[in-house]
Amino acid sequence: MLVAIDGPAGSGKSSVARAVAERLGLVNLNTGATYRAVALVALEENLDLDDGVALAAVGARVDLAATGASYAGEPIPEDALRTPEVSAAASRVSAHPELREILVERQRAAARATEASGGAVVEGRDIGTVVLPEADLKVFLLASPEERARRRALQTGREEELERIRKAMQTRDKRDSERETSPLKPAPGAVVLDTTSLSLEGVVSRVVELARERRGERRSAVEGPPGDEASPRNAPRRAL
Ligand code: DC
Repeated sequence: MLVAIDGPAGSGKSSVARAVAERLGLVNLNTGATYRAVALVALEENLDLDDGVALAAVGARVDLAATGASYAGEPIPEDALRTPEVSAAASRVSAHPELREILVERQRAAARATEASGGAVVEGRDIGTVVLPEADLKVFLLASPEERARRRALQTGREEELERIRKAMQTRDKRDSERETSPLKPAPGAVVLDTTSLSLEGVVSRVVELARERRGERRSAVEGPPGDEASPRNAPRRAL
């Protein structure tokens, strides 16, 4: 089964995706790490952050797994991807269609690789709209800008920088939602959840409940109702 979780920074995506994956026994894939990996390499190698073709060449060497992103086969430590410089550069590089095209392929390949183990919870900005429009469940998380900045500040331990974080987030949100290629928006059929006044546990249990419902619906669509002689019980199940 595939669960797509999209939403802006600070909407709770990462924490929700991690917990939902754990509860459902699925792999958790964080696609933001691929954009961050390209941004980190581009900064280290002094590449022009506006050269989509050069960035796409970096993207072609990025891989994604439950453990995070790797570049040319070398895992990239999570801390290196989380600096404010990399966050700002990731938002910039993610506007390039040439790079998005490559990374979307890498992300689909990562999702497909989870097929044998039962599937994945994939989080990002365009998972339901572009990467996996066929996902069994698509969730779009929202939260007020103030709440999102507060959560991000708590998460990074930079509480004294709340105002700077709020402004940086606002700039990234604007760029993410106004870009021409895959702007941040709910996919058709997505369940939109406003998490502003919900606890993490509240959001996680709601998403798990929705995923179990979808899994049940999918099983009965494959197996047919009990006692239905014509049901294709021996038909191969769609794994994803
Ligand atoms: O989720 P995050 O903050 O780690 O994402 C880093 C950047 O990558 C962010 O600016 C949005 C972008 N991104 C994207 O455009 N599409 C995705 N599927 C995931 C992230």
